[in-house]
Amino acid sequence: MRVLSVVGARPNFMKLAPVDRELVKRGIEHVIVHTGQHYDRDMSDAFFEELWIPAPDHHLGVGSGSHARQTAEVMQRLEPILAELRPEILLVYGDVNSTLAAALVAAKLGVRIGHVESGLRSGDWTMPEEINRVVTDRLSDLLFLPSRDAAANLAGEGIGLDRMHFVGNVMIDTLSWALPQALALDVPARRGLSGKRFAMVTLHRPGNVDDPVVFRELVEALVLLAERVVVLFPMHPRTRQRLQAHGLRLPDDGPLQVLEPLGYMEMLSLVAGAALVVTDSGGLQEETSFLGVPCLTVRPSTERPITCTHGTNRLVLPKRDAILAAAERALARRSPARPVIERWDGRAAERIARVLCDDERFELDVPLAATSPHTPRRAVAIPHPLGTG
Ligand code: UD1
Repeated sequence: MRVLSVVGARPNFMKLAPVDRELVKRGIEHVIVHTGQHYDRDMSDAFFEELWIPAPDHHLGVGSGSHARQTAEVMQRLEPILAELRPEILLVYGDVNSTLAAALVAAKLGVRIGHVESGLRSGDWTMPEEINRVVTDRLSDLLFLPSRDAAANLAGEGIGLDRMHFVGNVMIDTLSWALPQALALDVPARRGLSGKRFAMVTLHRPGNVDDPVVFRELVEALVLLAERVVVLFPMHPRTRQRLQAHGLRLPDDGPLQVLEPLGYMEMLSLVAGAALVVTDSGGLQEETSFLGVPCLTVRPSTERPITCTHGTNRLVLPKRDAILAAAERALARRSPARPVIERWDGRAAERIARVLCDDERFELDVPLAATSPHTPRRAVAIPHPLGTG
């Protein structure tokens, strides 16, 4: 059996790692294609090395560009590889442009598609990721759900239960695998933060950093937050570009520290020791929930509502005062115990491999109606141009 995985952007790599390990353990031929959507060493290669992912078998070298150009380049360069290798199944991960592009190519070639992290919906069509999620799910044959609420979203779009497998969260597989090593690194101590309360910040979404007025609010909030706790801000390249383009400045010394993007282990070590995380990332909402670290997600909605209902995540609008007030509340609230979320148990990739290799099913064992409390009203039955069925 040949399985081909396509990945391209930073959050894909953490999801690929445990799936690769499980497939290799079972003697499956696993071909890895890297689209090159992310290409800086600290956005790509560093993750392959730290997470023990073998070097990609094919690198498409697509790079940056508009959504249309990036998606089209992935499609053009992937098509001949897929046509030649004809895997039994193509796996795609998450919601980035590489995910959508690969799913489109496979669907047109008649290659079966498995979508890892299927069924998440924010209900926000202004996010490119939401379009990527909906279309990828519509094209996929095997839908691997990270959480129960995803089933209600998919059912609301007319997708049958027979395509859904509630396997759990592969991001948490990677976190569980890496946590002992990350904690042993004790990065907070190495950065002189022993005994100090600190916040980790990541922001990169177009909705937060593209508009200078919005970004200024965020910068002001961070400067004021740094009067309360040390703030570490590993900065995504697009955020750095926008900061410069908007003529905004962050102090380059003192309690607010802007850093280069961090590797997985270093970031995990810091997040695990943080008093607070402020982010617009998807993965961090999940990681903080698993670790029991308070998280403020600077977005109007989330495709991961379970992190709010069962975890430590709170949504906050990109307004200085709203962020500061929410940070104050969160800093007072570090939970004594880690929340437990169903099937976020380090075994999601094993379940995916059992579906692929042994034809096992991981069905939802309660009626779908029982899933609705996890799902925010806006994320149910999203109207979308593809219709249903
Ligand atoms: C992409 C994903 C987003 C994910 C994020 C994680 C899409 C639509 N978005 O956003 O869902 O949360 O990755 O990081 O797929 N750049 C570099 N070096 C790199 C990569 C990017 O400098 O290695 C710069 C380029 O100027 C590029 C910009 O960042 O134009 C944006 O990169 P892109 O991959 O288009 O989207 P992200 O914002 O990274």
